[in-house]
Amino acid sequence: PRTLIEGIAARIPSRIKLATKLVAFHAKAPIHQLTVENILGGMRGAPSIVWEISETDSSGVKYHGRTLRQLEEDLPKWGNSKQLSPEAMLWYLYTASVPTQAELKQFAADLVSRCELPKDVTDFLDNLPVNLSPIVHMNMGLTVLAQHSKLMKALAKGARKEELWKFALEDALDATGRIPTLVARIHSNIYRQGCDRDATLDLSADLAQNFAIRMGRSCDINFVELTRLAWVLHQDHGANVSAHTMRLVSSALTDPYSTLSAGLIAGSGTLHAMAIHNSVDFNKNMTSALGPNPTDQDIENYVLKCIASGQILPGYGHAVLRVVDPRLEWIYRFVADHPAPLPESGVHPVLLELIQRANMIVPDLLRVHLPKIKNPAPNVDALSGSTMHTYGLDVDFILPFMACGRAMGFLAQSVWDKALGLPIERPLSITMDGLLAKLQSN
Ligand code: MLT
Repeated sequence: PRTLIEGIAARIPSRIKLATKLVAFHAKAPIHQLTVENILGGMRGAPSIVWEISETDSSGVKYHGRTLRQLEEDLPKWGNSKQLSPEAMLWYLYTASVPTQAELKQFAADLVSRCELPKDVTDFLDNLPVNLSPIVHMNMGLTVLAQHSKLMKALAKGARKEELWKFALEDALDATGRIPTLVARIHSNIYRQGCDRDATLDLSADLAQNFAIRMGRSCDINFVELTRLAWVLHQDHGANVSAHTMRLVSSALTDPYSTLSAGLIAGSGTLHAMAIHNSVDFNKNMTSALGPNPTDQDIENYVLKCIASGQILPGYGHAVLRVVDPRLEWIYRFVADHPAPLPESGVHPVLLELIQRANMIVPDLLRVHLPKIKNPAPNVDALSGSTMHTYGLDVDFILPFMACGRAMGFLAQSVWDKALGLPIERPLSITMDGLLAKLQSN
């Protein structure tokens, strides 16, 4: 089997050749006319960031040209798992090639061998006040991990620019192993009095199974499967707010752990990953307001009231997609194939069923009552957080859980940023008066 570093190294020359050709022959060629709407609209519609691992357009995301459905066919699964494997997906994102079973096994073993956290980090985490939120713990833990960056050590020793990707890869693999362990430890410290935080890892298992071990849920196959699925679906979606933040921060050669912390902060915005969390609250409120057997008319009336009161409906609409988010299909399927556990801690048994019914009803209501929304279809957030919650994750833990996947995907992109020698990001800013002056001089 190839090692990951061999898989990446094999691809680098052709990608550098392409980058060199683009700059040498097409440097000044226009590919998009930048409009006032692009600039005032949060750069929507303006293709302005090179992203090696995927491309998201109005119909969904493609990873190196393949849809999730194709990858479901093509990528090897882990053991008896029915879900896409986060490690297989990652290998594919890094190398643009499908791993063999042997490569998947070797790669997962490498990642798991990197899972343990340095002692200064565990000591720090174990002494944090447990009344601080999991996101605060995660941010602080990442900041302490920063001093373990191999890229930073290499830079301090004057490493050559062409070699940086190898140190970035070492960091990326360390972080991919460590982040789930960090998140499980935070869970244990905040919710479970430190139980299982040092439980023995299974070096022959994958990251999801080892995460479950440290979460005290190693026998809960539904949870392990959901972890695999969530870490694939949330791994990458192009230059969304968290990924773009990380790209910007790491383009200044910031260490990867601080970069991930910046991404987590970006994710905690209501309009981005926090929408997952908010969608759970929205759905739970709807469930308790409507009771166990609402009619479609009850759902419609409830949603209309929310729209009339100016409430944001989390999980509907998307900045780029103009169809139902293709990732949602995988969650529908997961819910259908894995009977939800009995309700615990206030999770209503009809929650997931109600959301799926609401997903059919809400888009038409939004089309009529909020016609400004370009695509009112449900996105992955409409169901993913509520599914995580129903299968046992505390609501304020959803973001750190999902951030494990997002971190893995971005780290793959960040290694390619270094391999291609992409520069620090520095767009020009312009005032509105400046915009007007440019329009008048045209
Ligand atoms: C995501 O995956 O982060 C969301 O769909 C948001 C986005 O892509 O902009």
